[in-house]
Amino acid sequence: MSEELKKEIEKRRTFAIISHPDAGKTTLTEKLLLFGGAIHVAGAVKSNKIKKTATSDWMEIEKQRGISVATSVMGFEYDGYKINILDTPGHQDFAEDTFRTLTAVDSVIIVVDVAKGVETQTRRLMEVCRMRNTPVIIFVNKLDREGRDPFDILDELENELKIKVVPLTWPINIGAKFKGVYNLYEHGLDLFTPSKQTISERVEIDDVNNPVVDELVGHADAEKLREDIELIDGVYPEFNVEEYLEGKVAPVFFGSALNTFGVKELLNCFVKIAPSPKPVVAEERTINPDEEGFSGFVFKIHANMDPNHRSCIAFVKVCSGKFERNVGYKHVRSDKVMKFAAPTAFMAQKKSVVEEAFPGDIVGIPDTGNFKIGDTLTSGENIHFKGLPSFSPEMFKYIENADPMKAKQLDKGIKQLMDEGVAQLFTSSFNGRKIIGTVGQLQFEVIQYRLLHEYGAQCRWEPMSMYKACWIESDDPAALDAFKKRKHQFMATDKEGRDVFMADSNYVLQMAQTDFPKIKFHFSSEF
Ligand code: G4P
Repeated sequence: MSEELKKEIEKRRTFAIISHPDAGKTTLTEKLLLFGGAIHVAGAVKSNKIKKTATSDWMEIEKQRGISVATSVMGFEYDGYKINILDTPGHQDFAEDTFRTLTAVDSVIIVVDVAKGVETQTRRLMEVCRMRNTPVIIFVNKLDREGRDPFDILDELENELKIKVVPLTWPINIGAKFKGVYNLYEHGLDLFTPSKQTISERVEIDDVNNPVVDELVGHADAEKLREDIELIDGVYPEFNVEEYLEGKVAPVFFGSALNTFGVKELLNCFVKIAPSPKPVVAEERTINPDEEGFSGFVFKIHANMDPNHRSCIAFVKVCSGKFERNVGYKHVRSDKVMKFAAPTAFMAQKKSVVEEAFPGDIVGIPDTGNFKIGDTLTSGENIHFKGLPSFSPEMFKYIENADPMKAKQLDKGIKQLMDEGVAQLFTSSFNGRKIIGTVGQLQFEVIQYRLLHEYGAQCRWEPMSMYKACWIESDDPAALDAFKKRKHQFMATDKEGRDVFMADSNYVLQMAQTDFPKIKFHFSSEF
């Protein structure tokens, strides 16, 4: 293995920040970019603001699609590390995009609002992290505002996110009386001065019993801090990096992103403990990042703003070896060799052509419809990466052609939008009708709009009552056959032709599970 490759891999940290909207993800991202020198003024990252607009504000969504290409991946250097932040959409209707982005990261930072605690979106995203044993660090934000007791927050994090937590910093008061945090990891006191520009002051303290603490925060708060620390020492185990890397324990930091407080400490700890790119399990074998042969997979496809040129950018996560411009790579699904003259990388919010990229990096490849989510590129080997599951959608509608002259365009549009991962397509085995499944109402509107503007096709939605689509399988072919016959009216296939049971209520699903013990029901397409 070349030393260069090894060094490049070790310095890479590729991660995503996830949160419920409004917890402070954009603000934290921006502050991290400020530390990395990638931006110079606050307010430069606006990728998330889609959530603030009315749900069906079309032009706004179109604009956001354009902006979010630039902020899809934000790379910067910090303290000798190469950091890649993968942006995830703030709007919950795009949760599926976020799920897929999580397949391309090596770790995650979760932002939680101290007043609101764990919210729905955070809980759902954490489920995906748990499935993949992704290491997570938690940042409890907005300590400058009134909020909940930090011990309550820790309990809630453990219970709701189902992961052990260990506080690495501890707040002294909260809200108007917030005085700073004691850093249990680096042994120091970080004093809080509300300001969006200055960075907190650090006082090194080896022991909370040091009288300096009383001088700095006042006797009463110093005593409370000592009590808290004693309790923490008694209740929480010592932080173990190995357990964090296995996704079993999450270190917790407290701070205020808006005031740039606690962010640097978070970043310093993050670069030290967060994993560099790990081996990836493919169907054929496990791929190690330090292998000479290049491999990578497409986890996101971004359609261009310009509807006249149906150009996209396919985002490829490099898994092993070195990616180079103008070198032929095999597109495994089509068995074709492709060369890329203008691959882009994302540094400091700027997109620029790159000559090479290493494991952990994301390369943007201009595309005109060759790529599908989940596609693999390699130096020649036939590799299929696992771990890009489709999740059971939550909303379903029949899609009908509203302009008989444009049937072909409609079919093509649907196919490409599905390849891009905008939504999922099922075909009823009963009547052949096409069903679109999404995670939010907004997607239906996006699909209709884009079909018209990019493909000149018109569609109409027809309601259907549907609870869940589950992928089914069985070791017993006769049992599978019997099930499919009994549920004939409710059977469909997904775009790969796999069997899907469309349960129209939770009751029906439960009954089916009881009545057909030999059938396995899956809620994501990978099992
Ligand atoms: P999101 O990406 O997770 O959705 O959250 P975002 O960063 O946009 O933050 C949501 C709101 O919370 C913003 O206020 C932001 O300024 C505020 N905020 C973030 N961190 C802190 C913090 O540490 N303390 C306090 N007090 N507020 C914080 P906004 O008024 O909704 O937006 P803006 O007009 O300020 O951008």
